[in-house]
Amino acid sequence: MAAVSSLAFPPPVGRPARLVVLVSGSGTNLQALIDAVADPAYGAEIVAVGADRDGVAGLDRAERAGLPTFVHRIKDFPGRADWDAALTASVRAYQPDLVVTAGFMKILGSGFLGAYGGRIVNTHPALLPSFPGAHGVTDALAYGVKVTGCTVHLVDSGVDTGPIIAQGVVEVTDADHADGGEALHERIKIVERTLLVEVVGRLAREGHRIEDRKVWIPA
Ligand code: GAR
Repeated sequence: MAAVSSLAFPPPVGRPARLVVLVSGSGTNLQALIDAVADPAYGAEIVAVGADRDGVAGLDRAERAGLPTFVHRIKDFPGRADWDAALTASVRAYQPDLVVTAGFMKILGSGFLGAYGGRIVNTHPALLPSFPGAHGVTDALAYGVKVTGCTVHLVDSGVDTGPIIAQGVVEVTDADHADGGEALHERIKIVERTLLVEVVGRLAREGHRIEDRKVWIPA
C-alpha cells in the first residue's frame, strides 16, 4: 500500500477553495457539490469539471451550471502516461486547491499524483478497505455483507487505498439481492452525496493534516 504525503493541506485564506471535479458518469455527486457551492458560506467554488469520456450526464450538469469542462479519453493518447500528462495539464490550468474524483472510473497516474497528492478526494461506494475497485457495490453484495456504505478518502497510488476521511453506513436488505445491487447503490449514493459535500466543505474551510494514515480536520 502506497503512502500519501503527510504534508498538511492548508485551506486558502480570504477566498473560497478552488475545486476541479472529475467525473465519468451520471454526476449526481457533482450535482450535490454544484448545489452546495451556491452558498458562499460553504467555502469552495467549482472552477472546472473534467471527464474521461464524452456525452456523460455529469458533463451536461457542469454545462448547465455554466462551468468550464474538458475531456481526455485514454484511447486518444499513445499511452497511459500521455493521457495522465494531458489530464494533469488541464487540471493545472484551473489552479485548484482540491481535486474531487466523483465517480471518476480511471486510476490516476504518477504525474497527476505528484502534482496533487494529498489534495485529491475520492468517493467510493463501499466501506474501504473492503471492496475496492470498480465494482464495490456488487462485490459487497456477492460477499454477503449485511452492512455496506461509502468512503470518502484521499487518493494515493493504490486502488482505493488512500487515507480514509469519512464513512457512511447503509444496511443491506434481502431484497437487494434481487436486482443486482441497483437499489442498494442508489441508497448508498444518497448517503454518499451528503458525506462528500460535508467532507469537501470541511476540507475547503479548515484544511487537513495526515498522521500515520489518520486524516485530521481541525474542529
Ligand atoms: C458513486 O457511487 C461513486 O462512489 C462511484 O460511482 C458512483 C458515481 O455516481 N465510484 C466508484 O465506483 C469508483 N470506484 P455519480 O456519477 O452519480 O456521482
